[in-house]
Amino acid sequence: MNILQINSSARTQGSHSSALADTLVERLRGERPDARLTVRDLGRTPHPALDETALQALFTPDEQRSPEQAARVALDDVLIAELQAADTVVLGVPMYNFGVPTQLKNWIDAVARARVTFRYTEKGAEGLLTGKKVYVLLTRGGQYRNTPADTQVPYLKTLLAFLGMTDVEFIYAEGLAMGPEAEQKALAAARAQIDALAGNEAAVA
Ligand SMILES: Cc1cc2nc3c(=O)[nH]c(=O)nc-3n(C[C@H](O)[C@H](O)[C@H](O)COP(=O)(O)O)c2cc1C
Repeated sequence: MNILQINSSARTQGSHSSALADTLVERLRGERPDARLTVRDLGRTPHPALDETALQALFTPDEQRSPEQAARVALDDVLIAELQAADTVVLGVPMYNFGVPTQLKNWIDAVARARVTFRYTEKGAEGLLTGKKVYVLLTRGGQYRNTPADTQVPYLKTLLAFLGMTDVEFIYAEGLAMGPEAEQKALAAARAQIDALAGNEAAVA
């Protein structure tokens, strides 16, 4: 089993989403000691935004790319290869201003590539990253689960399904800014959810 862990908190220290992702990965590896782990920490190693230079590089045919354009596309290729190789994907996702962190969006913009991770047929869009299990560790200062203000979950569900990943579990740690007691309760609930999910994974494997 190949596990890909993506941390997207801007914090390299003290991030709850990264810590919960670590906890889940530890549990999965405990059940499957042969599992190989790749960690992509977007806070420590930010990925460049999809700007005009990047778009031009992507839309230039391989053999016509300048060395700079080839280097820019190669940065995205690495992220795509990591994702293609993964059986299990663990995403640490804080809520920033009701959305996903910029770094996660940059990762998404890198891995969503036509004819590589999705394609259009006469029947519509088809995701090419099938057969993967995805866990999303959500951390929030407030509480938005199952409300219209939670745009993260529908967005990530749609995006992941578009790329072929339909087996997705969301783990919530909410109310982290609502006082120490609420914080501890939220983290304990998230850890309990992790324990239950990791146990199920082991039972299936
Ligand atoms: C720039 C910024 C924006 C935030 N926006 C929101 C928000 O819109 N809603 C919310 O519930 N919490 C928000 N928070 C709180 C974070 O979601 C919370 O601190 C979370 O634990 C961050 O994840 P991390 O611990 O992995 O860094 C925000 C925090 C920061 C730093």
